[in-house]
Amino acid sequence: DSIEKGGYEHFMMKEIFEQPRSILDSMRGRLELEAGHLNMGGVRAYERKFVTADRIIIVACGTSWHAGLVAEYLLEDLARIPVEVEYASEFRYRNPIITERDIVIAISQSGETADTLAAIELAKSKGATIFGICNVVGSSIARATDAGAYTHAGPEIGVASTKAFTAQVTVLTLLAMIVGHKRGTLSDTKLRELMMELSNIPSKVEKALLLNTEIEQMAEIFKDVSNFLYLGRGYNFPVALEGALKLKEISYIHAEGYPAAEMKHGPIALIDENMPVVVIATKDSSYEKVVSNIQEVKARKGRIIAVVTEGDDVIPQMAEFVIEVPATSEVLTPLVSVVPLQLLSYHIAVLRGCNVDQPRNLAKSVTVE
Ligand code: AGP
Repeated sequence: DSIEKGGYEHFMMKEIFEQPRSILDSMRGRLELEAGHLNMGGVRAYERKFVTADRIIIVACGTSWHAGLVAEYLLEDLARIPVEVEYASEFRYRNPIITERDIVIAISQSGETADTLAAIELAKSKGATIFGICNVVGSSIARATDAGAYTHAGPEIGVASTKAFTAQVTVLTLLAMIVGHKRGTLSDTKLRELMMELSNIPSKVEKALLLNTEIEQMAEIFKDVSNFLYLGRGYNFPVALEGALKLKEISYIHAEGYPAAEMKHGPIALIDENMPVVVIATKDSSYEKVVSNIQEVKARKGRIIAVVTEGDDVIPQMAEFVIEVPATSEVLTPLVSVVPLQLLSYHIAVLRGCNVDQPRNLAKSVTVE
């Protein structure tokens, strides 16, 4: 058992630390920096479909759905295709409008999630093209799709998904770059810049993992609270949702992820001196707005834990705790900013004596509807 865990106490920790590698493996053979091109076998065969698609519908559940939300930002930003992200379980019971010109992207780590599989079958029956992004080779979803791309995260044992998420986001980023370039919405120069920056992500994730001890100490302070709020905007909004889900799953602390600006429409009422608020506030196009959101939380005495870009000298004056992550391009931010949130939930759960690898009531793949 301890050999399988590679010396780590839990699979989840091993998997969090594997991310520099699993992200690299998910780009291997696809991102060819020197030659200056991107390759993805599954996309090549359906290139025309992607270039002419009216819209893309993404279906997934849980963490994979959060990766889908990141993909919505990526595909709209880089490829200018309208995207809808659907919970697979809702999609099929809603009589959705699907046409032959739609591409449905199904995202699943296990490739066995019953709701996602059922959504695929429905979309197929309406003539849509189905593109799968799975981690498990030969899984039911991988077999049910017309084409796809595997995430090469390696086996994920911990029920709480970590390295599968970053691998999914990596593959979806490559997809958005390829499609954007083919559609002419992503210039050669911008493509080149993003390729360079994407190839730097494994070492930036490595750097973010150095925060482990600092985050463990922070976990000690927050381990006994009953609620947490996670806020983010833009690319960091899905990251806020993912951070909250991780905490709920393994520590059984109630946590909510929210778009930072939506807070004033309700959740702000929850904030008092007992409410820890994790704000993902990296230097990007919504930075100034997020700073205002932090001020709103601070004015109500919320306890701010801010994830910021290295060298930020504004937010540290406002937040109780600051976690510094390396700077990267805005579109690649989730790959780095999610890492400290994974570590925070892990350490809080361990300190609370929870079974992090097999949390109560949860299964690694949900094969029932
Ligand atoms: C993630 O931490 C969860 N355990 C869960 O939400 C999971 O992502 C969801 O069940 C979807 O699974 P899949 O990716 O295997 O389809």
